[in-house]
Amino acid sequence: MIDLHSHLLPGIDDGPRTTDDSLEMARVALAAGITDVVCTPHMSQRYPTPVEWMAESVVELRAALNAAEIPLNIHSGGEIRLDWFGELGDEELLAASIAGTGRWLLLEMPAEGWPLELGSILDGLAVRGIGAVLAHPERCAAVQRAPDRLWDPVGRGALVQINAGSLTGEHGSAPQRTAKKLIATGLCHLLASDSHSATWRPPEMEPGLAEAAMVLRCEPDDLVDLVQDTPAKILAGERVSPSPRTPPQGLLERASSDRTDGP
Ligand SMILES: [Fe+2]
Repeated sequence: MIDLHSHLLPGIDDGPRTTDDSLEMARVALAAGITDVVCTPHMSQRYPTPVEWMAESVVELRAALNAAEIPLNIHSGGEIRLDWFGELGDEELLAASIAGTGRWLLLEMPAEGWPLELGSILDGLAVRGIGAVLAHPERCAAVQRAPDRLWDPVGRGALVQINAGSLTGEHGSAPQRTAKKLIATGLCHLLASDSHSATWRPPEMEPGLAEAAMVLRCEPDDLVDLVQDTPAKILAGERVSPSPRTPPQGLLERASSDRTDGP
C-alpha cells in the first residue's frame, strides 16, 4: 500500500518528536503492509513549515531509515492548509507537491465551515496542470451536514482522500458516518493514514479498508485502487480521472435516503 498522507518527519509539526519516534512509526507502517509513505507536514498559519526544512528532513530521515535497515520508501510532500495557500509561491508549491512532481498538492480541508475560495483555488491550479487531493473532508462539519458539497470540487478535478481512521471511528461518530457515506456514494478516491505517531493515529490503512469493504459488501482486495493503484499514479505525477466508482445497486438510494442536508 502507498500512504499519501503522513506526519512522519520528526520535530516539524504535531507528528513524532525525534528520529527514533519516526523510525518506530516506519516499522509500524511496514508491518501494516505500507511500502511507500509521502511525508506531508502541516503547512499552515499554525505550522508555517519552510519547504527547506521539509526537504532536508526527508533526506535525513531517508538516511536514518537506511542505517536502521528499514526498507520503507519515503517521499516529499506537504499538507497545505487553505489559510496558507496564498502565502506559497510557485517554487514552494513545487517543493510541497506530492513526491515533488509538481502535479499534485495535498490540501487540508478545515474542520469548520466551507472554504468559499476552494473552487477558485482548484480552477487556478487546474489551468497550470496541477491537481488537488482534498485531505479528510469527512472531518469537515459542513461536509458532514451535506456530503453533496464535494461534487463541486470533484467536478473541478479534485480527488477525495479519507482518513482510514475515520472509517474505524478514530475521529468520532460524525466523521465515521460521513466517511462511510462518501464510500457508499463513490465520493472517495483515496485512503490515507494521516498518521502522527506509532500508537496515536498510527500508520495503518488495513482496518479502514476493511470497513470500506463492509460498506460496499465486497472484499478489501476489490478496493486496492484506494490504497495502491490511484496513489501509485499520483506518486508518479500521472493524471487521474476523479470519476467515482460505481456503487453496488441499491447503495446510492440507501445513502441518499438517509442523507442529512444542511445549509
Ligand atoms: Fe494530516
